[in-house]
Amino acid sequence: MKVFPSPRAAAVYHPGLRLLHWLMAALIFVALPLGVWASLVPRGSQRSEILFFHKSIGMTVLCLVALRIVWRLISGAPAYAEPLGRLTHAAARSAHIGLYALMIAMPVSGYLSSNGAGTVVPWFGLFTFPHLLPKNDTLRIAAGQAHYVFAWTIAFVLAAHLGAVVWHAAIKRDSVLTRMWPGYRPAPPTAKS
Ligand code: HEM
Ligand code: HEM
Repeated sequence: MKVFPSPRAAAVYHPGLRLLHWLMAALIFVALPLGVWASLVPRGSQRSEILFFHKSIGMTVLCLVALRIVWRLISGAPAYAEPLGRLTHAAARSAHIGLYALMIAMPVSGYLSSNGAGTVVPWFGLFTFPHLLPKNDTLRIAAGQAHYVFAWTIAFVLAAHLGAVVWHAAIKRDSVLTRMWPGYRPAPPTAKS
């Protein structure tokens, strides 16, 4: 059974995957500075308000990445219009897998550090996520350190991701950005004369 139209025919990602990519990119670009801000302000000031939004956005990313991975496994990726070299292809693939892993690792480590600290994990004031583990200082510290290391790692991988996109769009001038462009509809194939 075919669940989605073949993305290969269109040479762009499925519209749902493109929507998820841009929605999640926006959420992550908001979560990152909020996290840094929360870690810099002294306890007792605006920290809990900042963390309220930071945690809500982070948990949204966790739910969306699960959906996105299932969707991606079902619908696949379009073939590149201009085939990439072996090394470039391997680098792009590793960076993409790394980003997927970090989109899981970031919220999971944040969630576990909140479990360890015994602090609430809210979702925009509508409900709170249950704690899976009891309050525990070792967990709070270990998961908090992992969250910090993952934050630097995602910043580096994202810088490489954005650098690669700019390289393809501005220097190579190929169609890599088009593959992920939100409103792109490929022209229907013309009839052979
Ligand atoms: C996409 C998801 C997330 C991203 C990109 C992200 C990013 C960050 C960054 C960059 C920091 C500052 C560096 C640090 O101190 O670790 C931070 C801090 C923090 N994050 Fe997240 N985070 C995410 C999800 C979560 C979630 C789901 C939670 C909890 C449920 C959480 C809880 C925290 C807490 C409590 C801090 C403050 C740590 C401190 O006081 O030093 N984060 N986050
Ligand atoms: C302005 C910011 C961004 C731009 C311009 C951008 C652009 C792109 C483009 C053009 C692709 C397709 C690459 C290809 O097919 O080889 C792509 C794929 C991807 N992007 Fe981004 N991106 C951005 C932000 C992000 C962010 C914040 C994340 C997550 C942390 C992310 C995660 C991914 C992943 C995982 C893929 C691989 C998709 C797949 O094969 O399933 N991107 N991005």
